[in-house]
Amino acid sequence: MSKPAKRSNSRSFRGHGGPLRELITHGEDHRAWKEKIVTLPRLNLNNRQLYDLELLLNGGFSPLRGFLDAENYASVVQHGRLSDGTIWPIPIVLDVAEGRAFSAGQEIALCDAFGKPLAVLSVTSVYRPDILREATEVYGTIDPAHPGVKYLLQETGRVYLGGEIYGLALSDQYDFSDLRHTPRQLREWFATNGWERIVGFQTRNPLHRAHVAMIQRAMAQHGARALLHPVVGLTKENDVDYVTRVRCYQKIHRHHLGAEASKLSLLPLAMRMAGPREAVLHAIIRKNYGCTHFIVGRDHAGPGADATGRPFYNPYDAQTAAAKAADEIGIEIIPMSEFVYVAERHQYLPVNEVPTGHTVKKISGTQLRQMLADDAEIPEWFSFPEVIEVLRRSTQRQRNSGLTVFFTGLPSAGKSTLATRLYAKLLELQDKAVTLLDGDVIRQHLSKGLGFSKEDRDINIARIGFVASEITKHGGIAICAAVSPYEEARRKNRQLIGRYGRYVEVYVSTPLSVCRQRDPKGLYSRAAQGLSQNVTGVTDPYEPPKSPEITIDTTDIDPEAAVERILQYLGIPRPEHSASDQLRAETRGAARNTTSP
Ligand code: ADX
Repeated sequence: MSKPAKRSNSRSFRGHGGPLRELITHGEDHRAWKEKIVTLPRLNLNNRQLYDLELLLNGGFSPLRGFLDAENYASVVQHGRLSDGTIWPIPIVLDVAEGRAFSAGQEIALCDAFGKPLAVLSVTSVYRPDILREATEVYGTIDPAHPGVKYLLQETGRVYLGGEIYGLALSDQYDFSDLRHTPRQLREWFATNGWERIVGFQTRNPLHRAHVAMIQRAMAQHGARALLHPVVGLTKENDVDYVTRVRCYQKIHRHHLGAEASKLSLLPLAMRMAGPREAVLHAIIRKNYGCTHFIVGRDHAGPGADATGRPFYNPYDAQTAAAKAADEIGIEIIPMSEFVYVAERHQYLPVNEVPTGHTVKKISGTQLRQMLADDAEIPEWFSFPEVIEVLRRSTQRQRNSGLTVFFTGLPSAGKSTLATRLYAKLLELQDKAVTLLDGDVIRQHLSKGLGFSKEDRDINIARIGFVASEITKHGGIAICAAVSPYEEARRKNRQLIGRYGRYVEVYVSTPLSVCRQRDPKGLYSRAAQGLSQNVTGVTDPYEPPKSPEITIDTTDIDPEAAVERILQYLGIPRPEHSASDQLRAETRGAARNTTSP
């Protein structure tokens, strides 16, 4: 039960650095591991790890035998090569939180989110990476504005486990299943259909006329067919969701590239946005999937710009890096300079081939998003009507998506007061369903039994966030009001909910002295008498939000005015003076009059 047994009767394919290496076990080996795996300690993998595991198992990451051990990790970080010298640009590692007791010699069952065991990791190496060094070498920066670096600094566990993997099953994927292939399946399909020259095209964005022109030029120049190979694992935050993208790719494949000349297949890769190093990884993966050529255009796998607006990489760095590695990988890189529309020619051309004096037109991704949001007309020269139609439907769906307003602040800062009033106003002023998730109430059912340790508080906030994310996804409004003292727990909610709709954090910044004075629940006085422990602001910390959408100090502000500010921020249309406001104002005036001397 050591190395994965080779399947009998299976064709052998050449992958990167040797024969295509798949890590799914077969035959007797498979049966033995299947029996053993239920007895092993289990580790549920997160999304990034599951995508990495998928490509390890299916051969997309060939020749890797598993997650990198300390020696290979150091070599990949420093030299972009495995310790045997094979080019490998990005560390594929299994990170775990500090304090989890794993040791070399151990076998671990790697499971999906539902607890289904997918593979055994035979641990040979447990090590603490130098995260900053990894960021500097792999991404060229330690700036957390780089999404790959941000993940490394904020999401990655501080201990890595390395070792060989013995696979039992690929992860279950039920959507677009006819478009999902392992490298072997794709290569068998190519072989059966007599496809020999295949140019791979990587993307994480919807495709328009520029891309199709680029792919067609590459096909024509190299006498090749095309593999449209979009990433449906993890891409950059705020990218168009993959379901919408796949619908666009299907249109392009069917109507513009053609089923005889191109194949569409979805790639379950977790991108790192590592520009040059990532372009090399992409070329390796495409080699494994059977491509003979690979297009690397402008700003390939680019992470965008830093806070000063300076791009992390030069637009053609990725091209250069991939071209340099091409021979060793055994794939031909097709470099493409920026493609632009030349009005006089009614044609897309690489920018360096535009005749002087001709008019060049382009629309950026950001501009397109804005045009879709404004329902503006999208010019025919830019995209295909069927693609625009898919994107418009997606914009419409987003418009109907929901919203979470998340109040955070010290106990007695005024969160529940504002939340309750906001709840009532939203019911009055708009049509979406509204749910109030108040911390005190939640602790009586959903979070019953949880205490006030950091761990329990984080669980409580994660539960509220999960419910709010579902409400937001389904087009409703969730109003959350909980102390939520820890930035990290709030950040996670923001990230989760932001995927489905709008997230607005309201920091109720009323100072501790005022909260103490108010103390409607007697919490502060109980703390002062030593009757309550873990009281935020007294014995427990409160980490103020770093960039809340709204900050309200309720010391001197009337709750109604505070709610008005929030409604304005949310863009909820308000009748100038609704009849009920008018009536209330008059009633208040009358009450004041009666009591005034
Ligand atoms: S990426 O992160 O996957 O590289 P995207 O899907 O936008 O992002 O790009 C897919 C491929 O097309 C990459 O090789 C990229 O360099 C190339 N590309 C995108 N737009 C252009 C363009 N206008 N001109 C040249 N190449 C482009």
